[in-house]
Amino acid sequence: RRVLVLNGPNLGRLGSREPDVYGSTSYAGLVERCTALGAELGFDVEVRETNDEGELVRWLHEAADGRVPVVLNPGAFTHYSYAMRDAAAQRTAPLIEVHLSNPYAREEFRHTSVVAAVATGTLAGFGIGSYALALRALAEEVSG
Ligand code: DQA
Repeated sequence: RRVLVLNGPNLGRLGSREPDVYGSTSYAGLVERCTALGAELGFDVEVRETNDEGELVRWLHEAADGRVPVVLNPGAFTHYSYAMRDAAAQRTAPLIEVHLSNPYAREEFRHTSVVAAVATGTLAGFGIGSYALALRALAEEVSG
């Protein structure tokens, strides 16, 4: 079964971006980890990243049209993009919000997620492990 792992702005810079906050694993490492674990779980995982809000919205439409489960790290869009939230709300399969860091342990503006209420659930604070846990949660969800 196909799964999309969608990443918002600045996440393509993983590894070099504030490693004290986001860890030293590179974006390529994230892709590898998600693809390998996905295969173990019987998923055909495709990982994408974009700095563009419209592109992320279009990918969410694509997932909705294809009934494809999504693991979504919206980056900073999490906190203010109603367009992305409305796109996520159209989901036709489980959608899990993930964050590398724990936004509640950080600045006030990160304490609000506009997407959380339309997600199946959220995993945050486990670094790359948040994605691994989300893929495992998806496996639970789709097996019913
Ligand atoms: C993030 C948390 C967001 O607040 C931030 O803007 C990001 C990354 C995370 O994975 O911890 O870009 O989504």
